Amino acid sequence: MKKQLVYLLLVVGSTYLTQAQQTPTDTSKYPPLTTFTAQEDHANMMKQLGITEVRPGKSGDPTNPNSANYDEAIANPCPELPEILLTNNGKKVTTADMWWNVRRPEIVEMFEREVYGRVPDNVPDVTWEVEIVDNERVGRIPVVAKKLVGHVDNSAYPLINVDIEMVLVVPTNVKGPVPVLMMFGRPQLPAPAQPNPEDLEKINKSFKAMMIKSDPEMKAVFERYPAYQPITRLEGPGFFAPPVTGDSPPTEQLLAAGWGYATISTGSIQADNGAGLTRGIIGLTNHGQPRTPEQWGALRAWAWGAARGLDYLETDPLVDAKKVGIEGVSRYGKAALVTLAFEPRFALGLIGSSGKGGVTLHRRIYGETVENLAGSGAHHWMAGNYIKYSAEKGKFGRMTGCDLPVDSHQLLALAAPRLTFVSYGIPEKGDAHWLDQKGSYQATVAAGEVFKLLGAKDLGVSNDYHKEVMPPMQTDMLDGELAWRQHNGGHTDAPNFQYFIPWASEKLGYDPKQ
Ligand code: GCU
Repeated sequence: MKKQLVYLLLVVGSTYLTQAQQTPTDTSKYPPLTTFTAQEDHANMMKQLGITEVRPGKSGDPTNPNSANYDEAIANPCPELPEILLTNNGKKVTTADMWWNVRRPEIVEMFEREVYGRVPDNVPDVTWEVEIVDNERVGRIPVVAKKLVGHVDNSAYPLINVDIEMVLVVPTNVKGPVPVLMMFGRPQLPAPAQPNPEDLEKINKSFKAMMIKSDPEMKAVFERYPAYQPITRLEGPGFFAPPVTGDSPPTEQLLAAGWGYATISTGSIQADNGAGLTRGIIGLTNHGQPRTPEQWGALRAWAWGAARGLDYLETDPLVDAKKVGIEGVSRYGKAALVTLAFEPRFALGLIGSSGKGGVTLHRRIYGETVENLAGSGAHHWMAGNYIKYSAEKGKFGRMTGCDLPVDSHQLLALAAPRLTFVSYGIPEKGDAHWLDQKGSYQATVAAGEVFKLLGAKDLGVSNDYHKEVMPPMQTDMLDGELAWRQHNGGHTDAPNFQYFIPWASEKLGYDPKQ
């Protein structure tokens, strides 16, 4: 993949204008942006693929006649998974070299073409700007927090603006540089530093004057309460904050263990809906036009954005860029796995409740199905080509998940031998059967073969996915570089952080006290 340019502009407390913003654009020079609904985009892709009828996705409502299957007896219409260590022309992969040079590229190609899509060659460069650098305190821990924006060069199509939003938070009570976990989520400065009493007085003085200017009646009000200060300091818990435990927010657990974290906004990269496909980074590279069948979907676009975030982290001296992980839950769990699979610079991943399109097997019919992901509510996550596997009628005839040349055990294998923690909760607490924990366990078991081939440890059971049985919840399978743990909570990975962090630190050889 083309390495993106990273320029750092330290612009603290002032407004920064890009060239594109400075020069008014004559928009008539550019092809107008297509605005489709998600359904229209889906119909357009069906037409490009010559599909005339698709099967609808399963319903999560058990009373619906087309409700999801939860009967194991019919969940495996094609129980043999595509061979992970056999090349496309039938040669057994017996060495690491054969994996890296032959089999891995074959698997990447199939996932790109049929499942997640290709990143176009013309994807523009990203220029990172450090907007805010703030010394903050998260509980008892002093941190540096940075608000970052990755401006995507849109000079080829100025009708679309893409600014990647990310926040980086690093503890300053350890020597560093520190490992960092990048998380798909809302980038927010954790505890903005508050002005000191003198500055607060200035702010209040000016604020009162402004209010009186806009509403002269305020003068009398303020005179009635001469000592009143409309703006007060927000006091953080500081030194008296409760100690960090396994119940503390994951971000605090990371900081307490000497890790930094970054939060990156998926929406600032690519919208989470089919109508957005002609905008965001996907729309920008297509100059506002709809995708072609092999082009990337949102999962791959979010993964691309995460890789650009990593470009920035590589330039930040506070960060040990060789120890950067990626994390996400649910659709962002899918995105985290896609990121880890396609971007080898990420050293580790925490893949939370990712379900179909993530860790679970596409070809299993249990809970969510291929037809759900291929429908207009989710097709934007995938390459257009993926819709073929939901086709009832069309140019390719009837196709199902069983026709996919790859499956998710091979996606996990693309992460090998890097640290890969597969996390789920339990259906009783809301991590629904819809996600198919069992199918995910099978995929993880099967992927282990590649971890072992590359000299890493897998779950420590056999790789016979027909035979191995998912262990009870809260069984720690954390000895290997490939790890599995189902916690006793819901649709979140938070309860697994107290297992994930020590596992990751140990495997990375990181001890903040050294
Ligand atoms: C739906 C969808 C899942 C997805 C989840 C989420 O349940 O079917 O594939 O993971 O939403 O992201 O919340």
